[in-house]
Formats: sequence, structure tokens, C-alpha cells
Amino acid sequence: MVKGHILIMSTKKKIFPKFFCFFLFFSLGIGLFCLLLSCKSHIVREKLSFPPNPPKAVHLYLTADVEGSLEPCGCKSGQIGGLPRQAQYLLKSRQSPYLVVDAGNSMSVTPTRYEFFKWYYILQIYEKIGYDALNLGQNEVALSSSQIAQVTEKMPIPLISANVLEKDTSELLVRPYVIKEVDGVKIAIIGLVNPKAKTGEGIVLADPGTAFAKYLPEMLENSHLIFVLSALSIEQIAFLCKNFPQIGMILNTGETGTHLPENKESVVVSSLTAKSRYIQQIRFAFEPSGDLAWVNGGNVPLDESIQDHSGTVYLLNRYREELGKERFYLEQLGNSKEKYVGASRCSMCHAEIYRSWKQTAHSRSLDSLKKKNNHHDPHCLKCHVTGFGIKNGYEGEEKTPDFAFIGCEVCHGPSSLHTFHNNPDQLRPSTSHPNPKKICLECHTWEHCGNFDFDTFWARIAHPKK
Ligand code: HEC
Ligand code: HEC
Ligand code: HEC
Ligand code: HEC
Repeated sequence: MVKGHILIMSTKKKIFPKFFCFFLFFSLGIGLFCLLLSCKSHIVREKLSFPPNPPKAVHLYLTADVEGSLEPCGCKSGQIGGLPRQAQYLLKSRQSPYLVVDAGNSMSVTPTRYEFFKWYYILQIYEKIGYDALNLGQNEVALSSSQIAQVTEKMPIPLISANVLEKDTSELLVRPYVIKEVDGVKIAIIGLVNPKAKTGEGIVLADPGTAFAKYLPEMLENSHLIFVLSALSIEQIAFLCKNFPQIGMILNTGETGTHLPENKESVVVSSLTAKSRYIQQIRFAFEPSGDLAWVNGGNVPLDESIQDHSGTVYLLNRYREELGKERFYLEQLGNSKEKYVGASRCSMCHAEIYRSWKQTAHSRSLDSLKKKNNHHDPHCLKCHVTGFGIKNGYEGEEKTPDFAFIGCEVCHGPSSLHTFHNNPDQLRPSTSHPNPKKICLECHTWEHCGNFDFDTFWARIAHPKK
């Protein structure tokens, strides 16, 4: 289904800015859009002279928008992606000399305690991979300043951002940039995030242009080349391009690029909503002057041809063990008007339907999670049990065994009133005539069920005719 497209183009022409690579990729509704534009920047170097024998080419590996995706869920076959493959590719297949960077949003969009916990594991994996820099994207700045500080205190992960500030002190929360040396060439990598992003407690965002300008002199002094890792809007990128010709490349994520900045110099715009499905592999080389000579690249799909990295598998196993202790799914349980009663209660009066339901995969849906030791993962439980996230719904298998599957009330709604009413004939379950298709599609999404067709699927689980 998903084909591996790797597009490599190269040119040694030194003339005007022009496209080197235009690459449009659609896979099952997810658009992967990358535009590589030529980089014709003249860097004003003050002190550093360019090494006489720079590397012939540098390999830059870019990830973005992992959004808390650890590995394929296994709900359907042929899924691509996952951190075990990402780690394997970056550790075993990378070509030297290289840089490995993440443009942001490795954290999920929802800044819950559970997702923060998961992010911590992602960062541990990234640290093992040896990332050179990770930008704080919109999703990371939705965390609190103390959560980010907690992470940087615990591990030496190179988080960067020049415009994320601690609210009380107006000081930077992480370092603004890093300088990496590849075979004698010093590359400054600075991080920027869209100042309109929603921030968590204790965080304020400064203007990216001002922040960039502030660190520009010292970067020029100490590096040969400046790269920006960003989660900015197209307009903000255009502004940077126009005002800072010293920028060698901008590696951006967060907004699907639908149009180009006016000034096309010095830019790589890439937008990856990849959820760890792809790695962007970019190559670049230098003019003797130190300017970028050419840039090219493409996407590497993390498909089954790439093995799982054993160290990462080990870490993810530990993550699942720890999840079992944390029981995040018991946090912030919501209320529902009616109570869930459980499928066995329904069996008292709807014995035939119950018996037939027992034969369906819905009655064994927690087993599938158990097989992968994912039965404490809220992300999976959401679709694999009854009354997830609701007080009086699923509260763990021990406490609520009668909700540890996709029971009657997943489709019919919590039904205590119907069940206990003296005359059930008068009081129907909240979803007595469900809009069946709509209910199914809440879980049978393209991501989790490739070939959903209501008629065929309903036929497989239909209640017996009376
Ligand atoms: C959005 C809802 C949803 C989420 C979230 C979800 N699943 Fe599923 N899962 C499904 C659906 C729907 C199916 C049935 C797919 C089909 O029959 O084609 C399924 C099927 C499965 C199966 C295959 C069962 C079999 O034997 O065929 C496994 C294993 C599984 N899921 C594991 C997981 C894990 C692990 C997670 C979390 C990482 C997860 N699921 C998250 C909806 C979901
Ligand atoms: C005390 C007996 C009893 C229990 C327990 C019970 N029901 Fe019913 N239910 C009935 C009767 C009686 C009817 C009306 C006759 C029929 O359609 O079978 C009915 C009808 C329904 C209908 C059809 C409504 C309609 O508009 O046609 C649904 C759906 C339903 N029940 C779901 C459930 C679910 C889900 C549960 C468990 C949470 C449940 N029932 C538990 C007795 C019961
Ligand atoms: C709460 C989420 C959820 C809803 C709602 C849901 N399903 Fe499922 N369904 C699943 C999961 C999860 C599985 C996989 C169960 C397993 O084996 O672990 C599944 C499995 C199935 C299967 C068996 C797998 C197969 O490929 O044959 C069929 C058929 C099915 N669902 C049909 C439906 C239909 C029809 C509806 C709507 C009337 C529906 N489902 C609503 C989550 C859901
Ligand atoms: C995956 C979703 C799903 C699950 C799980 C489910 N139902 Fe239904 N149920 C439906 C749909 C959809 C209809 C409407 C059927 C139709 O249009 O033919 C329905 C209809 C009914 C009806 C009324 C029509 C009839 O056939 O009598 C009853 C009663 C009922 N369900 C009871 C139950 C009970 C009891 C269970 C659990 C043992 C259950 N359902 C599990 C989706 C579900």
C-alpha cells in the first residue's frame, strides 16, 4: 500500500535559487509534503575560516511530528513506522558524516500526564540514538516549564529553542542553539517555535525574529553555517528568509506547506505529519567559499524491511511495565448521565444476542492488547474496552471485568435506566437505534482498520434475527 519513495536530485549549478526537489506524497490520507529549495546564502563570516577540505557531502536525518507514536498498534497488517525501526535506521544505516535532528512535536498534541510520561521514554530513545538537536515544537511548549526542566535535569538531551522563555524570569528554558562539528565544518542549529502556540504553565514565547537576531552575532562568530529547526508558519519563515540571508537551511514542521515564501532563498521547508512513519534524509555539500553548493533529499518510509532495534524494544517493554504501575486510565474519569452496567446484565434478557456477541472479536478485544502487554495503555484502551475514561466504566480488569471488552454499551450507550426500569419496553437504551456506521467509525478508522465497509463488517457481528 505504502510505497517507499525516495527522491534524490542533485545539481552543482551555482546560479539562482531554484527548486531542487519538489516532493508530494500521499499515503492513506496523510499528506507528506516536502519542499527543498536551493540554498544560495552568503554567510558573513567574521573570524572562522572555512576548512580547506570540507566533507564532500553531509547527511542530515530529519524527523518531526512523532506526536507520541511509539510503534504501530498492530490493529491492521502492513503498518509502517515506529521508534524501534527509526532507531535501527538512524543507528545502523546512517551514512557519515551526519547530523540527526528533530524539528519538533515529538510530544503528543495532548499535554496530559500520560503523554508526558510517554514523551520521557521517547526522549530516552532519542538520546540513545544520539540526536544532535531537538527543537521544542507547539506540542512541547504546551507542557509546563517545570515538566521541561524536569526532563533536561534528568537526561542530557539536546533540546533547543531560542524563543521559549520561563515566564517569571524571562530566561531561556533550554539552550537557544547548539554548534555541531562535522569533519571540521561547524554548524550552528538554532530552534524556534511559533509564538502563537498555546503555552503551558510558566512558559512565554518571544518573537522568533527578535530571538534569532539576538543570537546571530555569536553564531556567526563560532560557526560556518546556520541551520534553523523550527515549527513556524509559512509567513514567519518568509520573514526569516527575507531578513536573515545568513541562514543556510530552515528545517520546518508544523504547518503543511501549501505555498512558498516570497523570497525563496536559503530554505528547506518540510512538513511531516509522520508519526514516526518516515525519516527525511537530506544531503548537502559546500562551495569552497563555505556556501551551500547543493541540497537534495527524500523520505525513507520505516517499513518492514527495517528491523526493530533491540535496545529500543527493551525500553518500550519497560515503558509498558511502568504504565501498568501508573494506571493513567484512572485519572480524570468523566461522568456520564447514565451508568454502565456491563454485558452480563444484558444477557439476562437478551440471551441470544449476548451469546452471538460472545462469538465476536469484540468480546475478546482486551486479549489482543494483553498479547502485546499494552493493556494498561490508555491510547489503546480507548478503543478496546467499554466506558473508557468514564467513572463507573472501565476501571481496570480486576475491578470491572464486565467492561474489559467492547460490550453492548459501547454501541448502545450506558443503559442502567433501561436495565433496571420496571418496564424496559418503555425506556430504551440511550442508543437504541444507533446510527450504526457512525459508531463503528469511531474505532474502525483507516489507521486501525484498513478496509472497513459497514455492510460486510456488520454482517460478521450482526445480532441474530428474532
Ligand atoms: C481508534 C481505535 C483504536 C485504537 C486507538 C487502537 N485500536 Fe487496536 N483495533 C481497533 C480496531 C477497529 C481493530 C479491528 C481492525 C480490523 O478488524 O480490521 C483493532 C484490532 C487490533 C488488533 C488485532 C486483533 C486481531 O487479532 O486481529 C490488535 C493486536 C490491536 N488492535 C492492538 C492495539 C494496540 C496495541 C493499540 C494501542 C497501541 C490499539 N490497538 C489501539 C481499534 C483501535
Ligand atoms: C430486565 C430485562 C432487560 C435487561 C436487563 C436489558 N434489556 Fe434491553 N430490552 C428489554 C426489553 C423487554 C426490550 C424490548 C423488547 C425487545 O426489543 O426485545 C428491550 C429492548 C432493547 C433494545 C432495543 C430497543 C429498541 O428501540 O428497539 C436494545 C438496543 C436493548 N434492549 C439493549 C439492552 C442493553 C445494551 C442491555 C444491557 C446494558 C439491556 N438491553 C438490558 C429488556 C431488558
Ligand atoms: C469502541 C471501538 C469499536 C467500535 C465502536 C466498533 N468496533 Fe469493531 N472492533 C473494535 C476492535 C478493537 C476490534 C478488534 C478486536 C480484537 O480482536 O481485539 C474490532 C473488531 C471488529 C470485527 C472483527 C474483525 C474483522 O476484521 O472481522 C468486526 C467485524 C467489527 N469489529 C465490526 C464492527 C461494526 C460493524 C461496528 C459498528 C456497528 C463496530 N465494529 C464498532 C473496535 C470497535
Ligand atoms: C458493535 C456495536 C454493537 C454491539 C457491541 C452491540 N450491539 Fe446491539 N445493536 C447494534 C446495532 C447497530 C443495532 C441496530 C441493528 C440493526 O439496525 O439491524 C443493534 C440492535 C440491538 C437490539 C435491537 C434489535 C434486535 O436485534 O433485537 C438489541 C436488543 C441489542 N442490539 C442488544 C444488544 C446487546 C444485548 C448487546 C451485547 C450483548 C449488543 N446489542 C451489542 C450494535 C451493537
